[in-house]
Amino acid sequence: MESNWIDRIFEKGWSPRISAGIVIPGLFILSVAVYYWWIAGREWARRFNKLGGPICLPFLGCGWIILNPNRIHEQIGKYGKIYKKNARFWLGHLPYFITTDVEIIEKILTNPANFEKAEAYSNSHFLVGQGLVAASVPKWKKDRKVMLPCMKSTMFPTYLENFNKNSAILVEILGKIFTHDAQPSCDIRQHFARCMIDVVFETLLDTDAKVQKCPESRFYEAFTECFHIVESKMFLPWTKFPPLWYLLGYRDAEKKNMDILRRTISEKMIRQKMEDWRQNNNNETDENQRLQMAHYLYQTGDYDSTDLFHQFLTVLAGGYDTTSTVLSHTIYLLALNPDIQRKLIDELDSVFEDAHRPATPADLEQLKYLDLVLKESMRFITPTPMLGRTLGEDLDLGMGRVVPKGCNILVSAMHVQHDPDLWPDPEIFRPERFLTQSGNEKGTKFFTPKFAMMSVKVLLSRVLRNFTASTKKPLNTCVFQYGVVLHVLGGLPVTLHPRR
Ligand code: HEM
Repeated sequence: MESNWIDRIFEKGWSPRISAGIVIPGLFILSVAVYYWWIAGREWARRFNKLGGPICLPFLGCGWIILNPNRIHEQIGKYGKIYKKNARFWLGHLPYFITTDVEIIEKILTNPANFEKAEAYSNSHFLVGQGLVAASVPKWKKDRKVMLPCMKSTMFPTYLENFNKNSAILVEILGKIFTHDAQPSCDIRQHFARCMIDVVFETLLDTDAKVQKCPESRFYEAFTECFHIVESKMFLPWTKFPPLWYLLGYRDAEKKNMDILRRTISEKMIRQKMEDWRQNNNNETDENQRLQMAHYLYQTGDYDSTDLFHQFLTVLAGGYDTTSTVLSHTIYLLALNPDIQRKLIDELDSVFEDAHRPATPADLEQLKYLDLVLKESMRFITPTPMLGRTLGEDLDLGMGRVVPKGCNILVSAMHVQHDPDLWPDPEIFRPERFLTQSGNEKGTKFFTPKFAMMSVKVLLSRVLRNFTASTKKPLNTCVFQYGVVLHVLGGLPVTLHPRR
């Protein structure tokens, strides 16, 4: 009688190859069973699965949707349409509810029960520790209270000095790249980013980091590298597996770059600053002095140098990439729309009689068209495409549909800003829409921090007093990549033409 395949295996003995052939699929099947028993079989998971969403695979969940980072934007748009702006996703074993519905978004973001950030934010802990952006709610509340005096608009004039000084350096650097003779086409985002790092250093620690003037700055390289690691952890699901994390070199990169950040500029500076503050302990903080948020934190006595280091990196992370993203998007959009650029430049020329004088609060107040252009730019290419929260209580969507407490919420800001129900002709870049469309503040108010607008206005007005912009990259070739901020694959190359 012919022996069956099991007999044949045992005739040949229990070789490592055979054991791998049986044990690995066996473990796989067992894990799938455990997975379904442990997660999918639970009452809340059953309720969650009732909300519409794409097909889920074992382990991966709907993670296959984000396997190609270049298609996340398109995929969210597609499933947003299919599931009427509200869809459920499983990312591995983690439940996510993705919404582009502005009514639901308002409900979620204004409810204090949902202040906890989504699980994905914990990927930034290695960089920002328990800094504001990724802190647990009790710590976040406490830190915000301490930091609030620094965000008051009465403090804004004191920031202007920094913005003006560093924007002058930025224009000088751009002037060396884009002369009348040499007019290359390149992505200028990194120059804005370097400028903002100098601004934040100076504003928070009253220290000139000279990142703009030192192209080889190790701090800049290490910081941007850490930022990329955070984004990889968030958007490349396979980096979640420790073996792959090691094998793909992320762990070494994380360690190396964090060592540079700790060793080089910031920790040394913070220790030095703490020493200065200790010596001047009895001096009250002068409202008119620079922001020096770190000083406010220090004064409470609850923060050591590591806390301050993380809070500082939090503000740096919050400030540099967002602002440089908005600036490079806006310059690109203006390059694509020469009429709008002309109108803006006319406004700048009528407010500023020369290209180099520092901007004053009164100037910024008069730049009404610049305000419209920036709002439209941030709508058109949303700098922070996603916000994430953890649901603190069940969310009733009506019609018997409930998003269960504990679920991760992702708000797709970029899709909200292109929702035709909110914005007529959403794919047209038209700053004037904000003259009449204040009713649509709903679609923007969560994504446009007022505090940041001033820095953007000072930098952009300085650049456009000195250059006009053109580009050869058509909008329809832009592939949007999701990260903490939005990236465009291959960057946004522009050419700046000196005006005088
Ligand atoms: C135009 C530029 C900017 C944009 C579009 C922007 C956007 C945002 C958004 C959408 C959030 C909320 C994130 C969330 O809740 O998940 C946020 C938080 C934050 N941003 Fe900005 N930001 C900009 C500039 C800045 C600047 C210049 C700074 C500081 C110098 C800064 C510091 C922060 C901090 C510390 C947080 C965390 C606040 C908290 O969780 O309470 N941002 N930003």
